[in-house]
Amino acid sequence: MGVKFHNDIYFTGVPGLKGFEHMKIAIIRGDGVGTEVVAEGLNVLEAAAAQTGFTYSLTEFPIGGQRYLDQGGNPAAPSIPVVTDKEIDELRSFDAIFLGAVGHPDIAPGIIEKGMLLKLRFELDQYINLRPVTLFPGVTTPLANKTPEDIDFLVVRENTEGLYAGSGGVLREGTQHEVSTQEMISTRHGAERCIRFAFEQAVARKAAGYEGKVTLVHKTNVLTFCGGTWKRAFDAVAAEFPDIKPDYNHVDACCMYMATTPESYDVVVVPNMFGDIITDLGAAIAGGMGMAASGNLNPDPAANSVSMFEPVHGSAPDIAGQGKANPVAAVCSLVMLLDQVGHITNDAAAIETAKKIDAAVRTTCAALSGQRMDRLEQSTAQVGEMIIAAL
Ligand code: IPM
Ligand code: MN
Repeated sequence: MGVKFHNDIYFTGVPGLKGFEHMKIAIIRGDGVGTEVVAEGLNVLEAAAAQTGFTYSLTEFPIGGQRYLDQGGNPAAPSIPVVTDKEIDELRSFDAIFLGAVGHPDIAPGIIEKGMLLKLRFELDQYINLRPVTLFPGVTTPLANKTPEDIDFLVVRENTEGLYAGSGGVLREGTQHEVSTQEMISTRHGAERCIRFAFEQAVARKAAGYEGKVTLVHKTNVLTFCGGTWKRAFDAVAAEFPDIKPDYNHVDACCMYMATTPESYDVVVVPNMFGDIITDLGAAIAGGMGMAASGNLNPDPAANSVSMFEPVHGSAPDIAGQGKANPVAAVCSLVMLLDQVGHITNDAAAIETAKKIDAAVRTTCAALSGQRMDRLEQSTAQVGEMIIAAL
């Protein structure tokens, strides 16, 4: 069956980037279950690569909440860098980043999220957050009477702007006269490049038998300023793709359709905050957070950047260290990494490895059939072993 979400338009014909010999992968295990699922991902990668002849190197970056604390970072307020500028520059020289999850229960909300995850997404200009919503055969969905045929779409989330841009502030904090703002920032450039990527995905998917449709999800009836910018960008890009059907849903209606008629979606393009929300819903209908993969992409081959692949789930402190996390989401993120970067670098063995792991994950999911994928009775390591056995 293979992996369907890479984009041949962007991702072929640019070999030799960064003096390519073998794939150089930066590893950020992070915190909590991040470390556990990355370990399984790397076991699977090693076993699959032995079969395909794929060659790669791994370089560890011990970035995360734990390091922040170990280095004396203040858990209550940002004090030292979570990731340094030097590290960000080093990361640019890699072909890909494989990230587990970051976040620490002893650190106040926002410090690690803004100081590391969002910082990397913004500094590396990873303007696409690619989040497939794919129900694998055998996996239980909470939606009655829906099958893998029905739940198979691609969310293209804008990843550098919107409510995440960090514009705003608070005055008279802690008083009865407290005032805060959190502004939604949309640029025509930011919307347009994201929408164009979505249309290109739809072209590639149409060639693979999908409908060929892009649905813009926004709230243009209320957010008339930012919504207007997105709609104007959408209409302009849609005009460049006469073979792709343009469509529009308000975000509230989108949530309803995802639960009632997910088969109506092919490619969804959505600003940052709405994309964050609907992709948790997407994960839920495709079997839970243990299944959801993502890629933070800078698809521009000329940019001095690197893409970062991570499961959608977080560090899950409540189950960390117990071997309870499902590693499938991380393994599927690795599949996306191999496929996307393999196309950039014309690395046939990487693409072959992606296909092999993808097939093994599907076999494993079918074998786990009947269980809730985020409450497996098998341990993290046992699921990894099942995937390796299925290779
Ligand atoms: C995600 C996460 C992040 C986001 C958080 C941890 C900053 O929820 O990747 O979806 O909101 O983007
Ligand atoms: Mn999220």
